[in-house]
Amino acid sequence: MMKLETVVVEQHDKVAVVTLNRPDKRNAMSPQLHLDMVEVLEALRDRPDINVVVITGSDPAFCAGMDLKEFFLANREDNTRFEKAYRAAVEWRGRTLRYYPKVTIAMINGDCFGGAFSIVEGADLAIAANEARLGLSEINFKIFPGGSVSKSLANLLRPRDALFYGLTGRPFDGVEAARIGLVNYSVPKAELKQNVMELAAEIGSKDGEALRATKDGYRLSLEMSWEASMDYTLAKQDQLTLRQRGAWQDQGIGNFLDKKYKPGLGSLDS
Ligand code: ACO
Repeated sequence: MMKLETVVVEQHDKVAVVTLNRPDKRNAMSPQLHLDMVEVLEALRDRPDINVVVITGSDPAFCAGMDLKEFFLANREDNTRFEKAYRAAVEWRGRTLRYYPKVTIAMINGDCFGGAFSIVEGADLAIAANEARLGLSEINFKIFPGGSVSKSLANLLRPRDALFYGLTGRPFDGVEAARIGLVNYSVPKAELKQNVMELAAEIGSKDGEALRATKDGYRLSLEMSWEASMDYTLAKQDQLTLRQRGAWQDQGIGNFLDKKYKPGLGSLDS
């Protein structure tokens, strides 16, 4: 469907799979990869035929973090070039993913280090292979989780886990990632793709506007007072009604009252 220098995009029904594609470099994030991700996310954001975006890596890795050579060393003497790459790097993994109008799932198929934690945190859901290797390797090369990574850790992890792994730099597997809440769950690598694609298809079959409102309601309420959140979600409900032309009332509630399905047990089509 779309092939850029460092990223490949495929579509399966309402699901787009975005694959970081520098396997020889373990999908480390070069400045070009950041620019490609900005372009891909921009291209997908308004597509009405897509409800879910899965982000993964070309085997064997998910993403080995920043490209230590191309991101840090190559731009060492050129602040302007570095800041351009830095801005793209923090924006797509941070604000863009967090407020993205599609549901996003990080599928962690293999090695996931440092800056890749911000992809995981920016995504709405994350599923890992049991065998994946993850780690905050920064301390091992005399630096710290900079850029958006410290904030990602603060958003997602309990303080003890964030500091334990940040201070030791010890690698851990997908099972441990699930235990500490970095991912939703982990499965054997052999089952990962099928598992995630089934989950993505299940979510993708729901109403796209309702999915978006679910994300926005959660993410923006985190930043609001109770009063502001009540007013926001009321306005959001009106927006949803308008955008769906009343589908949640007419079809959603209507089909329940006509005894066609029980929403407590699934959607009408599930
Ligand atoms: N930046 C640039 N190149 C990388 C990176 C990276 N982050 N990670 C791997 N590569 C390159 C290697 O240099 C090597 O390139 P070469 O074949 O041209 O020599 C190639 O990818 C394969 O790497 P290997 O080390 O041979 O692969 P292996 O599977 O044995 O190990 C591992 C993978 C564990 C990911 C290892 O490469 C590693 O420790 N990489 C660094 C991970 C890291 O610390 N990332 C930075 C986090 S901090 C941040 O993102 C700000």
